[in-house]
Amino acid sequence: MRIEGGRLLVAGRDAEALAREHGTPLYVFDLRRIGEQAGALRAALVRAGLTPRVRLAMKALRDEPVLRYLRGLAAPGAPAAIGLDACSPGEVEHALACGFLPEEISYTGTNISERDLDVLAPLDLHLNLDLISQIERVGRRCPGRAIGLRINPRAGVMRGHAQSLYAGAKPTKFGIYEEDLERALAAAERHALPIDTAHFHLANGMLDNELPAFDEALATAARLVRRLIEAGCPLEEVNVGGGLGTPLHEGERPLDLDAYAGLLEHHFGDLGVAIGAEPGEFLTNEAGVLLAEVVTVEDRAGTPFVGLDCGWNVLNDHRIYGRELEFVLPARADKSPIRADAPSSQDVTVAGHINEGDDVFGEGVRLPDVAEGDIVALVSIGGYCHSMWTDHCGRPRAGAVFFAERA
Ligand SMILES: Cc1ncc(COP(=O)(O)O)c(C=O)c1O
Repeated sequence: MRIEGGRLLVAGRDAEALAREHGTPLYVFDLRRIGEQAGALRAALVRAGLTPRVRLAMKALRDEPVLRYLRGLAAPGAPAAIGLDACSPGEVEHALACGFLPEEISYTGTNISERDLDVLAPLDLHLNLDLISQIERVGRRCPGRAIGLRINPRAGVMRGHAQSLYAGAKPTKFGIYEEDLERALAAAERHALPIDTAHFHLANGMLDNELPAFDEALATAARLVRRLIEAGCPLEEVNVGGGLGTPLHEGERPLDLDAYAGLLEHHFGDLGVAIGAEPGEFLTNEAGVLLAEVVTVEDRAGTPFVGLDCGWNVLNDHRIYGRELEFVLPARADKSPIRADAPSSQDVTVAGHINEGDDVFGEGVRLPDVAEGDIVALVSIGGYCHSMWTDHCGRPRAGAVFFAERA
């Protein structure tokens, strides 16, 4: 994504022209950005002296062109190959249909049912289990199978949230707590399940500011990982989950990947295991833009409203995680692709077309003057937004175009 001659380009193509050609709402994806991010993360881990296994958290973006693009980057097992982390049987079946081999897929789901296992158990994929009852369930079904154990060190870091939704002080459904570790180990032993992977997911949207807190959380995680090793678990991998962020607002800088990798090396470098990473946002955010048409410009009781031809059914990350969205007018963009830079005359409320009162993309948004028929771009929303769509109100999924090459 870049600005050239006052116009927003995505994958080297004029964003407004794409909107006019394909219709709105329209996601535009620059797939090469995903490859670049994966390559940068991998390279940083290698520079830190680690052996990386990078996987895309499929829930962030699972469309077939994305998976086929990743598949095409490297042959299975090649060092540059990017694997997948799946969290449902549906994702697994989709990954297989797009050419991934079971052994390239890790499965980090929660609350697995027997129906889930009907699909998962026969496949040679790697299961990371996060509850003792899940160890029992898998053990009854597949005694002797190597598993990963998701641990919960009760420490994590979330950008913009006081509490980690994954590993905070409040009990969550994810991962084995320290006080339950012995019971988890006993369950694994009862079913002869060797634990070859220690897994945790501690962060969300992390940038440099969050690294000190991440470091502290890693120290606790590392203590639990060492307990697994002391208990005789044949660990081959420490999977550090995802949680790496990308700049979302003007003034934010990209995460220092060398600093991130340095922390992982500090805590796990001496263990001689591979380091698994399964980012979603970091790989996909900057690959995607949503284009929408302005269908209403109207002053309402003193507040200017700008209405778009899309709603939270096609973009609901802000609704779930409270993220502030950034808007750019592709035809009048100025300096920065993550800011509406053209001169703004007023703060507006940007609303969608779903028939719910909370279908609002932002209040007090500094938007340049717009007219009905203009195209607006919501930027850096490649992760999660397109994959979390719903058909609420009978509204269809947004269109999407995927470019593997830049024009
Ligand atoms: C187990 C696990 N791995 C990876 C991810 C990807 O997270 P992110 O998009 O923050 O990198 C998630 C997200 O919730 C997760 O739960």
